[in-house]
Amino acid sequence: MAETSYKVLVLHGPNLNLVGFREPEFYGRKLLENIDEEIKEEAKRLNLEVRILQSNSEGILIDAIHEHRRWAEAIIVNPGGLTHYSIALRDALTAVRLPVIEVHLSNVHAREEFRRHSVIAPITLGQIVGLGSHGYTLALQALKKLQEEVV
Ligand code: DQA
Repeated sequence: MAETSYKVLVLHGPNLNLVGFREPEFYGRKLLENIDEEIKEEAKRLNLEVRILQSNSEGILIDAIHEHRRWAEAIIVNPGGLTHYSIALRDALTAVRLPVIEVHLSNVHAREEFRRHSVIAPITLGQIVGLGSHGYTLALQALKKLQEEVV
């Protein structure tokens, strides 16, 4: 019987649809569709199953977390600006009791003071910041390794 693959929900928050155009000095020149391709390729290589969603709406992100609570085994999230204030997004992530990795394209610690604080970080396994789109592939690799340790 084929080995069942580990299922990961990847969420991109507000304004991440504009990466590639938006402040390239912070977010690079890769388009989100190219980043998503990298995520899918890495997932395939690692035998992980991914679903990827970008939304500019907090409610849509929260609904997606609820809807995937039985499908997903882990969540990778770049909450965009919601990182710094969305208790509702944090509560949704907490409610579904799935391991979460928080990713930021830019080094949020080297920017404005308000970006240094994440309301999401305390409920995550960890954060990967400042490594551009590699953050997502590194997060997939970490989940794979963590899963192998448990099995
Ligand atoms: C971001 C950092 C946030 O502070 C910002 O609001 C974003 C993108 C990042 O990926 O570096 O939208 O999450």
